[in-house]
Amino acid sequence: MNIMLAEATQARAVAPPLAVLLELTHRCPLACPYCSNPLELASQREEMDTGGWLDVIDQAAAMGALQLHFSGGEPALRKDLVELLQRARERGLYSNLITSGIGIDEAKLDRMIEAGLDHVQLSLQDATRESADHIAGYQGSFDKKLRFAGWVRARELPLTLNAVVHRHNAGNVPRMIELALQLGASRLEVAHTQYYGWGLVNRAALMPSREQLDAATAVVEEARVRLRGQLVIDYVTPDYYARRPKACMGGWAQKFLNISPRGDVLPCHAAETVPGMQFDNVRDRALLDIWQHGEAFERYRGTAWMPEPCQSCPKKEVDWGGCRCQALALSGTADTLDPVCERSPDHARILQAAMDESAAAMPPPFVYRRPARKALPGESPA
Ligand code: FES
Repeated sequence: MNIMLAEATQARAVAPPLAVLLELTHRCPLACPYCSNPLELASQREEMDTGGWLDVIDQAAAMGALQLHFSGGEPALRKDLVELLQRARERGLYSNLITSGIGIDEAKLDRMIEAGLDHVQLSLQDATRESADHIAGYQGSFDKKLRFAGWVRARELPLTLNAVVHRHNAGNVPRMIELALQLGASRLEVAHTQYYGWGLVNRAALMPSREQLDAATAVVEEARVRLRGQLVIDYVTPDYYARRPKACMGGWAQKFLNISPRGDVLPCHAAETVPGMQFDNVRDRALLDIWQHGEAFERYRGTAWMPEPCQSCPKKEVDWGGCRCQALALSGTADTLDPVCERSPDHARILQAAMDESAAAMPPPFVYRRPARKALPGESPA
């Protein structure tokens, strides 16, 4: 085979991503203690400009992606959001807005729908006002969300609610389901907290007990049967109590890619935590080339990188080795198996940590997600 043919064959072997997530900004009115943004948040000054994002949308369509997720932070804080949605529609991409629902009035929602918005995913911190506002770190957020959800449904736009579950709200899963029905959502995602980034910082404050997990699981299983045809309920269980890892992101570099506010192209939202990894920037290199050949994408794509016991595991093409970021966070290296797997030497230790933390009578207070405070003159940086 000549070199050009070999390269073309290799390029064809990497299927295009199903979805591209645009983290337009890290700015957000909320301060959830499990936020998936990195600990070091990008400032507004560092965000890619409108031309850069329009170019990304063009490239995503050209490489064969099907969906665009407009996310953040709060994506509606970007003044060019309507323009970006319009470009997604022109390029035939399905657009999903992942939002807090704060800061979008009816007129803006109408402009977004007119531009081509296809779907809304609204975060839900809890099913009661006081608790939801406390978790979000924002007084009045709950009422604003409910009002926003009403506007979305009045316009017959499909609505998904995303509820992140932990020790402070796991008992309210039945009320979340009720709320989803009242609001006319077609889908509810009940996702136990994923413990990396801010979630890891707040792990001791958030970890549910095994009993809370089992109760929430039973509620979801019963509701799925009762509400079939009315409400789809997705359920993401907490890793620490699992015996097998999840296929994080559907497998590293297999279905999804993230673009950070600065334009860095990431295989997952937490990939910047993996030390020694170089991320290409979409302003310097074509998106398709990064996806197919970028060092960060090739490092853990497929199964060749896997150590034992993953290599001889019959599930290696089911879970793809689990979550690289979690392996790093809990075992100190991303090159090993996800310690959620019961075959990991670290599995018993993390299960014990979960049980100890959830058993604490008084969990520590939340460390809210906030940009790091700049050091004052004469003060050393934190
Ligand atoms: Fe990065 Fe799971 S969050 S691989």
